[in-house]
Amino acid sequence: MITRRQFILGGAATLGLGVFVDMRVIEPRWLGVDHRTIHLPGVDLERPIRILHLADMHLSDTVSLSFIRRAFLKGLAYRPDLICLTGDFISTRIKNPEAYVATLRLLSDRAPCFACPGNHDGGDWVKSHGGYNDLTVFRALLHAADITLLVNQWETVSIKGQPIRLVALGDLWAMEARPKTAFKNVPPNSRTPCILLSHNPDSKDICADYPWDLMLCGHTHGGQLKLPLLGTPFAPVRDHRFVAGLHPWSNRLIYTTRGIGNIFGLRFNCRPEVSILDISA
Ligand SMILES: [Fe+2]
Repeated sequence: MITRRQFILGGAATLGLGVFVDMRVIEPRWLGVDHRTIHLPGVDLERPIRILHLADMHLSDTVSLSFIRRAFLKGLAYRPDLICLTGDFISTRIKNPEAYVATLRLLSDRAPCFACPGNHDGGDWVKSHGGYNDLTVFRALLHAADITLLVNQWETVSIKGQPIRLVALGDLWAMEARPKTAFKNVPPNSRTPCILLSHNPDSKDICADYPWDLMLCGHTHGGQLKLPLLGTPFAPVRDHRFVAGLHPWSNRLIYTTRGIGNIFGLRFNCRPEVSILDISA
């Protein structure tokens, strides 16, 4: 006959094992789709456009290329008009760039693809964490995959015959986010929808004085570990209001995707996702 103490200890051990299996085995591979409609007031957009927003692939020993490929195919099944990628394509270094290029080409073969860099893709922050000193390798990777990398730049693209302005920042933690350069010559009172690609949602504060309608971000992984009562204490941001999902801010919108990959191979109560955003006026 088991004692009460043995019963409690057994229950706690079973619960602990279950949580560990969930965090390490089930959730990091349990892809979801966040499909939502976003209305942008005050812009000209006669026909809605569908954006596939992806971030934080984190190709590494813990996030395989086959998983990333599965995520891309899941997003592409929604037939996006435009694909936006907001950084952290890798965790530190790329072992097999040719294979990654072939996978990224699944995206660029299907729709116009634009990207901004993340803190893991190269530069001041990641060089002290085993990554590349700058964006040279990352630039070459995206160039080979036919993905347009914008770093403190903007471009107007035609989607379904309608102009869409894409502005992209360098990474905040890499000390490369320069909104003044990124928005140079962007007309201040234009009705062209302006979408800001920026890896880190904390960069909103330095972009407060510039004309954009919707910011697309990643970086947080949704908090990666979302704990009962505690929320997302590990999300690497100052402002925890923008860890995941769509939120209003200063008369515009910020959308943060939970992303595809992870760090350390763990996720809890915070599944990976691809984001489908139907944008209308
Ligand atoms: Fe990341």
